[in-house]
Amino acid sequence: MPKVTVVGAGQTGATTAHWLAQLEIADLVLVDVVDGVPQGKALDLAEALPIVGSDVHVVGSNDYGPTAGSDIVVITAGLPRKPGMSRDDLLAANSAIVRQAVEQSLAVSPQAIFIILTNPLDPMAYLAMKVGRLPRERVIGQAGILDSARMRAFVALELGVSVRNVECYVLGGHGDDMVPLTRHSNVAGVPLRDLIPAERLAAIVERTRKGGGEIVSLLKTGSAFYAPSAALAQMVDAILRDRHLIVPAAAYLTGEYGLRDLFFGVPVQLGRGGLEKVIEYTLEADERQALEQSAARVRESIEALKLS
Ligand code: APR
Repeated sequence: MPKVTVVGAGQTGATTAHWLAQLEIADLVLVDVVDGVPQGKALDLAEALPIVGSDVHVVGSNDYGPTAGSDIVVITAGLPRKPGMSRDDLLAANSAIVRQAVEQSLAVSPQAIFIILTNPLDPMAYLAMKVGRLPRERVIGQAGILDSARMRAFVALELGVSVRNVECYVLGGHGDDMVPLTRHSNVAGVPLRDLIPAERLAAIVERTRKGGGEIVSLLKTGSAFYAPSAALAQMVDAILRDRHLIVPAAAYLTGEYGLRDLFFGVPVQLGRGGLEKVIEYTLEADERQALEQSAARVRESIEALKLS
């Protein structure tokens, strides 16, 4: 059975383990700094598995010993946003946490593929790759599946159709200037622009961009975790099952879309080796401009990372 470690047994990490345990694709290790929390959540989850009929092993730990030999390490450890905070406000605190998680994971799982969730996402994925001296195939950031899922949910509500019929593609940095590509988004093959009046579509795009903040302002004491963790589970599944699945995710770019030396949300293909391919869409001028604007913001936070 493959092994997946989830670092951070908080809201997102524990819920990721929950989805993954149900998929029955890997033994799971939860790691957290808080004494008893990863152990308690792992035990509770393990005790749920006879009910749902899954034979994976789930353990929790405060150290990385039990994570040895992991195929995938998912990093969710970090501080979440509070109302009024941007993702970038988390940079200094979370970079120390991500650095430590990568170093300690690699010491016992030298072949692991890393999936990063901790915010601010694009600089944290960049940091993980640099700290671990990893090839880009082995570091992927989760943002695009979540942002696209939010847009898909809003479109399905708007039109009263199944979420299964809705395909949306949100690219760019995981910030408020992410780029929902309405031209590529569709319902059962019909372009969104033909189905939803322009002003309603603009409202959906805006709600998507602010989707994380909408949840933060409702919860007040934390950020979204069901949808982010479902996205992480889908990425783990795509890799372990070698699906060659194309999803939007943050990848290290080496010239694709005219961008290099940054993590940025683009369509990628995921398989057993991790990042198999970056897919390049042909973009129109306004789409390219929006992506460049988003890339400029991501570069600023990567620069801040180098200074901190
Ligand atoms: N090693 C392991 N776990 C850590 C460390 C560390 N060095 N530092 C903090 N943690 C743990 C915390 O103890 C906590 O249990 O990370 C967990 C984070 O969980 P939550 O506070 O519930 O936060 P969550 O909502 O899961 O968000 C985590 O994901 O979406 C992003 O912006 C969000 O960066 C944040 C991260």
